[in-house]
Amino acid sequence: MSDLITNNEIMNEFHIEGGYPLSGTIKVSGAKNAALKLMAASLLTDEEVLLGNVPLIEDVFIMADVLRSLGAFVEIGKNTVLIKANDLNNCTAPYNLVNKMRASILVMGPLLAKIGRTKVAMPGGCKIGLRKIDFHIKGLEALGAEISLEHGFIDAKSKQLKGSSIQLDFPSVGATENLLMAAVLAEGVTEVKNAAREPELVDLANFLNHLGAKIEGAGTSNLKIQGVKKLGGGKYSIIADRIEAGTFLVAGALAGKDLIISDFKPQTLSIVIEKLNEVGVSLQVETDSVKVSKAQSIISSNIVTLPYPGFPTDLQGFFMTLLSLSNGQSIITENVFENRFLLAKELNKMGAKIRINGHRALVNGVKSLKGNLVESPDLRGGAALVVASLVAEGETRVLNIDHIDRGYENLSEKFNNIGAQIKRIDRKEKKNNKYSQTLNQSFLERVSE
Ligand code: UD1
Repeated sequence: MSDLITNNEIMNEFHIEGGYPLSGTIKVSGAKNAALKLMAASLLTDEEVLLGNVPLIEDVFIMADVLRSLGAFVEIGKNTVLIKANDLNNCTAPYNLVNKMRASILVMGPLLAKIGRTKVAMPGGCKIGLRKIDFHIKGLEALGAEISLEHGFIDAKSKQLKGSSIQLDFPSVGATENLLMAAVLAEGVTEVKNAAREPELVDLANFLNHLGAKIEGAGTSNLKIQGVKKLGGGKYSIIADRIEAGTFLVAGALAGKDLIISDFKPQTLSIVIEKLNEVGVSLQVETDSVKVSKAQSIISSNIVTLPYPGFPTDLQGFFMTLLSLSNGQSIITENVFENRFLLAKELNKMGAKIRINGHRALVNGVKSLKGNLVESPDLRGGAALVVASLVAEGETRVLNIDHIDRGYENLSEKFNNIGAQIKRIDRKEKKNNKYSQTLNQSFLERVSE
């Protein structure tokens, strides 16, 4: 075991015994990156909103607390969330919550549109880069908001947002979403050019249209939003998490034995599936599932991350893991976040040979990885370490799995159900994992379609 861990904080951890084949069926949960946005968007209406297929993950509990802190009623059930935001009595999203999760800044657009004021602490989240918010601010200003940055808070005001034409410098997911949500209740027409095209953004647009918004072009680079006076309520089921599906695909490519990954849309991972084929992984792709088995040998390859439909930055670390076990040299180029290679150091502790040079990683394939003591650097990096541990020789201890809990629902349980040997050690109590047992029934009964 390595003695390199310097942090003395008490951490929850996984103990993973590598080398067990993964077989059976693993079901993909609802998308984190859609759930958080749909929860924020629910602030736009006074009516009741009931969301289904919501993953029970830490970030969802944090977003629920953010909405509650603004005066919304939020009840969490097993994979359902009920929200009613007819009595918002506060416009400030507190530092302690925003600092835990960057997606909290997505209440800015809805609050500005609905109550004309928002004060949000400067965001935190994964330490994967600078993660600026200038596009959000510029875009909201173009819609007529007055914004000042004071004492660590973004303070924005507006009497009535007005439609405008906005050209984004980069197809930022969060900025597109904030602008979309603000524009839905703005006066007149808003166009967002060079908009993000991610499936989770399309889900957000579909949800808003379901509540009565008029959005066209979601999934293309040009969004057109005709503002409406108000939105209604409704029931909506969130799309599957393509990043979780990608996590399982890579695990299957390394340790699968006819492993079926079910309940997601493989077409949202086209480029990833192509890449897996290219490196020698054989896949059987159906409409809602993929069957995958361990590759005989992994062929080295290059990866370049880009906004959707390019190769997703959120899966870059999993491919770094996969290519670490390839037959040669691969280059990974990270174009979306400037600090997303923290995982490399941890993989190297397990015997990988990765060198970082700016936004490129040079990965020299090795024959095997070896169990060690490693620490989750961030959400996806942590999950990639779990995948690496599943094929490493001997035992790996993955520390700081709280990062992983932010975005994966019962990851260890799901892997154990298909043959993995993961023991979860909870050294500190989880505060936020309570949910109502009765709300699920409500999902069927309470709100008509
Ligand atoms: C979202 C996802 C995250 C994913 C990322 C890219 C959520 C909760 N998170 O993050 O999992 O990795 O998309 O697919 O959905 N940028 C600026 N100025 C801005 C906004 C962004 O310079 O105002 C930069 C960022 O620093 C980053 C890049 O643009 O380098 C991409 O960021 P963005 O697409 O906004 O990602 P997020 O919405 O934060």
